[in-house]
Amino acid sequence: MSGSATTSARHRKLRASTIDMDDTESRLLDEGEISLNKKAVYEPSIPQRCRQLVCSRGWAITILVLMGLFLVLIAIIASFARPQPTVCPDVSQIKQSDTSPTTTPAPQYISTNGQSFPWKHLKLPRSVIPVSYDIHMHPNISEQTFKGKVTILADVAEATDFIVFHIKDLKIPHFSVQSKKSGQTILTSEYLEYKHAEQFYIKLKVKLQRGEQIQLDVTFEGQLIEKLSGFYRSVYKTLSGEERAIATTHFEPTDARAAFPCFDEPEFKAMFTMNMVRDGSHISLFNMPLRQTEPLGGNGLVVDRFEESVKMSTYLVAFVICDYANISKTMDNGVKVTVYTPPEQIDQAQFALEGAVKALKYYNDFFGVPYPLPKQDLVAVPDFAAGAMENWGLIIYRMTAILYDEKVSSLANKQWVAVVVAHELAHQWFGNLVTMEWWDDLWLNEGFASYVEYIGADVIQHDFAMQDQFVLEVQSAMYLDSFSNSHPIHVPVNDPSQINEIFDKISYSKGASILHMLATFLGEDNFKSGLTAYLKKHKYGNARTNDLWAALQEASHDIGVDVTAIMDTWTKQMGYPVVTLAKQNGQLVLTQEHFLLNSQAVDDSGEFTSPYSYKWYIPFSMTTSVNSGSATTVWMNMSSVSIPYPEGITWIKGNPNVTGFYRVNYDSDMWKMISQQLLADHKVFTAADRAGYIDDAFTLVRAGKLSLKTALDLTKYLEKETDYIPWRTAIDNLNFIEHLIYYKEIFSTYKKYMLKLINPLVTSLGWKDTGSHLQRFLRGHILHLGVDLGNKEVIAKGKELFQKWKTDPASLSPNLKNVVYKAGVENGDEADWQFCWDQYNATNVPSEKAKLLNAMTYTKDVRQIELYLGYSLDKLKVRSQDSISVITGLASSPSGQLRAWRFLEQNYDELYKRYGVGSFQFPNLVKGVTGSFRTEFDYNEVKSFFSTREVGSAKRAVQQTLEKINMNINWMKNHEQEITDWLKENAS
Ligand code: BES
Ligand code: ZN
Repeated sequence: MSGSATTSARHRKLRASTIDMDDTESRLLDEGEISLNKKAVYEPSIPQRCRQLVCSRGWAITILVLMGLFLVLIAIIASFARPQPTVCPDVSQIKQSDTSPTTTPAPQYISTNGQSFPWKHLKLPRSVIPVSYDIHMHPNISEQTFKGKVTILADVAEATDFIVFHIKDLKIPHFSVQSKKSGQTILTSEYLEYKHAEQFYIKLKVKLQRGEQIQLDVTFEGQLIEKLSGFYRSVYKTLSGEERAIATTHFEPTDARAAFPCFDEPEFKAMFTMNMVRDGSHISLFNMPLRQTEPLGGNGLVVDRFEESVKMSTYLVAFVICDYANISKTMDNGVKVTVYTPPEQIDQAQFALEGAVKALKYYNDFFGVPYPLPKQDLVAVPDFAAGAMENWGLIIYRMTAILYDEKVSSLANKQWVAVVVAHELAHQWFGNLVTMEWWDDLWLNEGFASYVEYIGADVIQHDFAMQDQFVLEVQSAMYLDSFSNSHPIHVPVNDPSQINEIFDKISYSKGASILHMLATFLGEDNFKSGLTAYLKKHKYGNARTNDLWAALQEASHDIGVDVTAIMDTWTKQMGYPVVTLAKQNGQLVLTQEHFLLNSQAVDDSGEFTSPYSYKWYIPFSMTTSVNSGSATTVWMNMSSVSIPYPEGITWIKGNPNVTGFYRVNYDSDMWKMISQQLLADHKVFTAADRAGYIDDAFTLVRAGKLSLKTALDLTKYLEKETDYIPWRTAIDNLNFIEHLIYYKEIFSTYKKYMLKLINPLVTSLGWKDTGSHLQRFLRGHILHLGVDLGNKEVIAKGKELFQKWKTDPASLSPNLKNVVYKAGVENGDEADWQFCWDQYNATNVPSEKAKLLNAMTYTKDVRQIELYLGYSLDKLKVRSQDSISVITGLASSPSGQLRAWRFLEQNYDELYKRYGVGSFQFPNLVKGVTGSFRTEFDYNEVKSFFSTREVGSAKRAVQQTLEKINMNINWMKNHEQEITDWLKENAS
């Protein structure tokens, strides 16, 4: 069906969870979207239900008194049941938490022993502030356990007689508190653990005074299992089939506490030292360089002692124990850059190493602050939830985001490596040196890195044409932000599942887009000097969004714009405007309104209300046929504006090159002129502008603000379009329609029309893997579409190349693999599928593994689909990091869609347990499986299923997916006739 090939423009971010990073291959439908009051999604909560019970006042009081007495009794029993610790208590009865599905009930503040937990906040108190951590860690990889001790030096900022810090899934056999000055032990009277908030509370017998320093020693024990967060185990196989285990970490956002007890909030910056016990046959890595290694006992164990870190947040701490090989390069300024990979894959590390050196060197100048650590390690880890993680000096990557094999991997794979390397290195400044104060400003980290990754990747390899591709980033953000269940960039978050939830397109792509807009209207130089000032002012500290605005304001006073006032309208309210252009009495009237896909949704009906009544400060710019080279900009200050109508023009392009985060609508005469110009000579517009027209038109149709005919008329010129960017935009938009009409009679006419559009390109591009970077991307997409639409020659050629590949793998160009695998698997038999499976297991090129894993989702054989769904949760067959991509990949084909949904329903407990709370991938699962449903029956089924389930970090995703289904239903209601008529008229 519909270009499963093509959904990915919408999903560029956090593609870690997709199987392959090729543009053509990520099939995640991670485009959620729709309006439904969230209250309707959930059953009444217990308090709500209780309110419905009616009883007399007297009875109520009696019941309350009895309940109170009962609670007191329980507390008394509990406190007698457990000996009260004093100094160095034996607390081994605090056990590992069980791993049953974590639910997110309202906080009850009940400790593990039944006693009330005295600290009633998710954030820690600010009375005790950590200054340094000395971590001693002893992992036992084969026994899958670790134990250790942390010594935390802390300042007392306010007098207090208790200490609260974080732990998660750790046993605490011992702890002690000492006064740093006197060295004397401070007696403790009580300790409690509260699992829900992942907190540990120690009550002291004396009050600590402000200005004192204390030393907190805590021993801990944990499990080193394959779980993708905290301190965990990961296994790879050598070519001879031998299994090798490594131990590694992933802490962001809230899992440092699962590796060692700590004050696990970004604001608590401290210095870290590490002593790591390891086997002599391994190496260990930490954020900082190794200082010395000493033998430990006589049994082959040694201890690695590392240099002390700079002041940093806990979520950036990392360590790895492995048996890897490495390659390295020392930069002119002495910083040593090293890539670590399993020994048999080190030959795939060269591109990442060179790229990292180039980008680091560039960023040193760009940010105006030198990279402060003596080394930067890049480590490839076989099981990794994200694409990569920016731990300071020790960046950890998923294999596909760092390894590149010229002979086997595609250019899209190569670009992905460059982008991820550039992104994580940008974080070394934005995120690591200056960190958001709290997760509600996550966008400062991720939006920024997503903006700078284009600059960095461009430096790594200029012919990737990264800047041309930025418009796709903007489009993907605008799409999600058109939902009434979107959220503002700045969003309140409290618990781990809410924090995980905002690693989404709004924080990433919208964040990047509004920075791009800001850089454009401030000018690159002002923007850069503002950034440098911000980094210098807040280095080794924390900042909020306003601090960035203040620095940029200061740097651009010559322009006379109020950065904070302008940008607040973009970060503090969700959504964005559509600017409508109309000719009235010789004037060009520009009006703005909140753009919503679902026109029935009412502003403010959802979770958020706008403090600005959904009005924005828009730097509206435009070009016209008489001044196509230079843009005119007018500010729309939360209002409408009129300017003289530019006489004698034949067309207008609002938001040229899509530098602003807004859409543009024109009156019908203007749209007609645009359409005519595109047909007559589309090259008068830039590729980004052609893409802009197409994306605006089709999205405006979906919102009921433009006739479908107008948008479809625009597509006629595509017969002559040879550029990737507008084609990519068109494919994404048409894909939406294709999908909706797939089961309708008119679909065959649609195919005819589409084939007419793409056939000139099919012929001119051919099957020879030549041309520019973006032309090669385009070839992949067009041929892929050819297979989807049933172009017989394309399918035949694809099948032929697939059979040839089976006997001679080197015969197939890496950039054609996706389409050839698709043609082969979709039209192949069980043996073809099995061949892919065997290749998947045999290859040691991660990008190839990912391509094959994705290719196998194209099968139409229902038996194979069921088998593969089963494999997706079998850890011996599919890595946990890839399961969601397999399931959503299968869900995006007509034969797999309902089976994947049934599978999700049947296996929900397992899926929730694996990904529900601590994973940013969970929303992708929900949206990927259900987002393309299109009937009321589906809507009700999805709604009723999730209304009785815990949804963890997919809470907003459920709302968005319901909104999306609702829109799908409405689109068909409103447009079926229109599209049928139009296609009948235009297909031949
Ligand atoms: N800081 C994130 C990693 C992360 C993601 C941690 C989600 C916790 C939850 C990292 O910098 C990141 O954004 N990685 C991206 C790659 C990037 C090129 C968009 C990813 O993992 O996809
Ligand atoms: Zn990031």
